[in-house]
Amino acid sequence: MTTLHQNRKNIPFIKESKGKRKLVMLTAYTSSVANNIDPYVDIILVGDSLGMVIYGFNDTLSVSLDMMIAHGSAVARSSKNACVVVDMPFGSYQESKSQAFRNAAHILSATKASGVKLEGGEEMAETVYFLHKRGIPVMGHIGLMPQKFNISGGFKALSPDQHIVDNVISEAIALEQSGAFALVLECVAESIGKKVTEAVNIPVIGIGASSDCDGQVLVVDDILGMNPDSSLKFVKTYANVGKDIQHAAKCYAEEVRSGMFPSKENYFFAKK
Ligand code: KIV
Repeated sequence: MTTLHQNRKNIPFIKESKGKRKLVMLTAYTSSVANNIDPYVDIILVGDSLGMVIYGFNDTLSVSLDMMIAHGSAVARSSKNACVVVDMPFGSYQESKSQAFRNAAHILSATKASGVKLEGGEEMAETVYFLHKRGIPVMGHIGLMPQKFNISGGFKALSPDQHIVDNVISEAIALEQSGAFALVLECVAESIGKKVTEAVNIPVIGIGASSDCDGQVLVVDDILGMNPDSSLKFVKTYANVGKDIQHAAKCYAEEVRSGMFPSKENYFFAKK
């Protein structure tokens, strides 16, 4: 049975953090990672980036609702401090408000997460309002929207041209007015991060959007250095887990091949 953790950070806590404390958000997709990061973060995002990180896809478009629910449940079961938010995958909310409600309600009831995240600004405002009024907390996601890469032509940071700045600010205001409790702002020029953060009264969580945002989010595998070859400008790497895994696998292989592992201390002996 899943336990309801009384001290878990909830949506009101996240909302009222604006101006009081910087919010820390990291992605997690598995039980072991969720358990290890839980004491240190305010929000764990079960991002649809799991399509690339866990499943090896080139983008997020092939991620299914079932995948999000399987990973969302694992993360919620294995954390007790952080507020857990699950991404709505591509195609699970864009069709209609009722489609979005049905799938968001399924995510929350099946995973026990506290909220969902979806991509889009003004075009999703009615949907966000519909969900919010029916008890589903929604985190918005604007700026670079990976689910729309076929339209935008790739994963490029947004420039600070005046019409882009005005547009992103309008998107943020539309989400706030629709009842979104927070929003992610991805890969925008530094000046946009500041302006959007000042324009709304809900927390703006940046990724490649400057330290002026109310909080920051990164993909956990990136901060762990799981992909030593990746060089994303907005990422800071705090560990070299990828190198450690390679080293451990190499040593294990050598020891198995040379007969050094297992040794007597790894054997089971019959009790006399
Ligand atoms: O899917 C994801 O991990 C995200 C974050 C990068 C914000 O949306």
